Amino acid sequence: MTTLRIGDTAPDFTQDSSQGPIHFYEWAGDSWVILFSHPADFTPVCTTELGRTAALSSEFAKRGVKPIAISVDPADKHKQWIDDINETQSTTVDFPILADPDRKIAALYDLIHPNASTTATVRSVYWIDPSKKIRATLTYPASTGRNFDEIVRVIDSLQLTDNHKVATPADWKDGDDVVILPSLQDPAEIAQRFPKGYKAVKPYLRLTPQPNK
Ligand code: BEZ
Repeated sequence: MTTLRIGDTAPDFTQDSSQGPIHFYEWAGDSWVILFSHPADFTPVCTTELGRTAALSSEFAKRGVKPIAISVDPADKHKQWIDDINETQSTTVDFPILADPDRKIAALYDLIHPNASTTATVRSVYWIDPSKKIRATLTYPASTGRNFDEIVRVIDSLQLTDNHKVATPADWKDGDDVVILPSLQDPAEIAQRFPKGYKAVKPYLRLTPQPNK
């Protein structure tokens, strides 16, 4: 088992899921992927998280992102659980839940933290880009449901900062001002990249309207 870090290549695998066997890289294709783990099926917090993911389906699709969940239980159990999720969360789960009874993916993605639980996976999220690089990660304990607005917000930041010489400040959300990268100093390039101008609060803190809006 290895710890996966930002910039590492996301491990490939073939594993069963609620939608049948999945070869991860083939399934991902050229999309961004959110791979997120769940302690177990038929648990309350996970049920709300998967419902929330389903409710955000169009937001993920708009951004070219495919969500994929993983829980260590087998695929037939996932299918029964999906019925409960759809019923209780008023959603349609349209993304796969990977089955991991042999803990293959849990080992590849370091999802079992033995000092938390020797059997259940923690709540991790991996943001994976179309070149299969891990771009961000987070890990919460089983008792803390994740904030899915934050998961979408990180995608927005990653996709924006991949295409413009900016970074996103604290609590930024799509449409807010961003900061110009400190490495960008050429006045002509700054004028060309940020025609709406910028405000230099400090020489290293330069705020500009989001350039793709
Ligand atoms: C839950 O998903 O609700 C949960 C799972 C394991 C421990 C605590 C809560």
